[in-house]
Amino acid sequence: MSNASSIRCLITAGPTREFIDPVRFLSNPSTGKMGFALAEAAVAAGWTVDLVAGPVALPEPDDVILYPVVTAEEMFHHVDALFDACDVLIMTAAVSDFRPVEQHARKEKKDDAALTIELERTTDILKTMTERKAHQTVVGFAAETNDVEVYARRKLEEKRCDWMVANKVGEVGAGFASDTNAVTLIAADGSSLKIGPTSKAEIAKQIIQLVTPSAS
Ligand code: CTP
Repeated sequence: MSNASSIRCLITAGPTREFIDPVRFLSNPSTGKMGFALAEAAVAAGWTVDLVAGPVALPEPDDVILYPVVTAEEMFHHVDALFDACDVLIMTAAVSDFRPVEQHARKEKKDDAALTIELERTTDILKTMTERKAHQTVVGFAAETNDVEVYARRKLEEKRCDWMVANKVGEVGAGFASDTNAVTLIAADGSSLKIGPTSKAEIAKQIIQLVTPSAS
């Protein structure tokens, strides 16, 4: 990597939605703030940024190429198409792990609807990408309510990432929806660095600096 402008970064952000019928879906509280902050920090570092974002209510960052998606499957198809050309993949998105086996074309009437929904797993986008990883630096996010670092280290290994950002969620002032966050950035060699509590913009700036591929 000779200079910053030659670095192409692929970032995913926000939640995905998995529809039960046209008016009901499974999702999570992700707002996309961390992913969008990373996109802005990467642009500020001079990188070219592809941003694949689930449904969020945030203004489009300047100078990124934005790919809006709704479902995990749509997010997978975009990441799959863009991965080979990127130098850095940062998977901030809170991808739904499950989707209903059946998606009804019409709104289910409550008196007739079944009270249980059969689910199937969505594709693990991150794991699928690292299976064919070549030169890319890959950064995952581990959203955990408890035993944050233990699970994050496990995910780092299982998903074969270069870095894993351990992120405690489910508390006020950190994780989903907050403007601030506190994370631990864990490297593949086991070393780690705590960042924050501080703004997501500052955390994003530091993450981009730390995961910058070294010149070769
Ligand atoms: N991820 C992904 N595809 C999925 C689920 C997760 O690419 N179907 C990515 C996320 O973007 C994140 C990392 O995997 O970078 C970890 O996501 P997380 O939700 O913390 O973990 P899961 O793999 O879903 O495992 P669990 O729900 O058991 O904690």
